[in-house]
Amino acid sequence: SSVSRDKATQEIPAYGCQRRTPLHHHNKEITDALEILALSASFQGSEARFLGFTRASSVLKSLPFRLQSVEEVKDLPWCGGHSQTVIQEILEDGVCREVETVKNSEHFQSMKALTSIFGVGIRTADKWYRDGVRSLSDLNNLGGKLTAEQKAGLLHYTDLQQSVTREEAGTVEQLIKGALQSFVPDVRVTMTGGFRRGKQEGHDVDFLITHPDEEALNGLLRKAVAWLDGKGSVLYYHVRARSQNFSGSNTMDGHETCYSIIALPNVCPEKPSPDAEKIEPDLDKNSLRNWKAVRVDLVVCPYSEYFYALLGWTGSKHFERELRRFSLHVKKMSLNSHGLFDIQKKCHHPATSEEEIFAHLGLPYVPPSERNA
Ligand code: CTP
Ligand code: MN
Ligand code: MN
Ligand code: MN
Repeated sequence: SSVSRDKATQEIPAYGCQRRTPLHHHNKEITDALEILALSASFQGSEARFLGFTRASSVLKSLPFRLQSVEEVKDLPWCGGHSQTVIQEILEDGVCREVETVKNSEHFQSMKALTSIFGVGIRTADKWYRDGVRSLSDLNNLGGKLTAEQKAGLLHYTDLQQSVTREEAGTVEQLIKGALQSFVPDVRVTMTGGFRRGKQEGHDVDFLITHPDEEALNGLLRKAVAWLDGKGSVLYYHVRARSQNFSGSNTMDGHETCYSIIALPNVCPEKPSPDAEKIEPDLDKNSLRNWKAVRVDLVVCPYSEYFYALLGWTGSKHFERELRRFSLHVKKMSLNSHGLFDIQKKCHHPATSEEEIFAHLGLPYVPPSERNA
């Protein structure tokens, strides 16, 4: 009934970490539109507009019913002004003019293509755009100016554009565990990121690595990746060392991290059709290969920080942003993937579960599958 729907909208809290946000929800047409405008704002360097549209979209993802009229959003947090116009147009016409204009703009299309390359952020893409780069083929002229990461990103572009399935993620997990366990048999490896939130596919596979004996973790990541490299399974990797002077109020994540591209053996290699080479004379041996390039992120954390790192690397990115904003503004505490620091009492809050971290923050527990904010 409209009365219970009114009540539902009045009860939606303002912070994304105070809400349960499932993977599938009831207002996808609207949240897709709002996310296009958020992305476009970020391409234009407008953090405020990016956050505005992202927050409006996130609120609608937690709504337990499909919107029927724009009147229903009047009591919702973050759904005023500009977002309301978008919501109204989608509800009434099925499309939003501004979204269609953005989608057709050259800047948006180029920025989207360029930032989809591994190693290319908004600032790099924007600089390239101002230098006249419009598409991936224009990048060949930039050759020497690309970083090693960007070169690898371009080389494996087609594979990396395809999403990673849950089954493939499981194969990656076996590969990574095998490498780590060959050095530390009882190492603890957990798949984090979108797959832990229940997604069926992702843009990469994320893992968190720890062990009760911190000595066992020294040098482990580099040894394991070198071991995989020796077996021909590593297409690119970069290890970022653990930050030494890491402070409790720092919002950056200082864990040792490896950003990599792995050659994943195909579970069932596709047989190329016999006349494939006749149809495409330029067909290189890549299309006859039995592997697929997959992005893999590996993070190592001390056992004492495990649950903070687990919470921090499970996402979603917006859920994490909201958790940190809530901690700071409402609780005067600084949260990151290492711990929780009470700024007024000047003390840390150790945790032995994710539930305990939510309790420290005075938040109802949100399981990973409901963190798709
Ligand atoms: N993350 C982080 N520091 C980085 C990169 C990522 O803390 N340098 C965190 C993000 O905040 C997020 C998690 O790692 O919580 C996973 O990030 P990512 O792999 O980018 O996104 P997913 O949610 O896993 O989604 P996808 O399927 O696109 O990979
Ligand atoms: Mn539902
Ligand atoms: Mn991920
Ligand atoms: Mn990742």
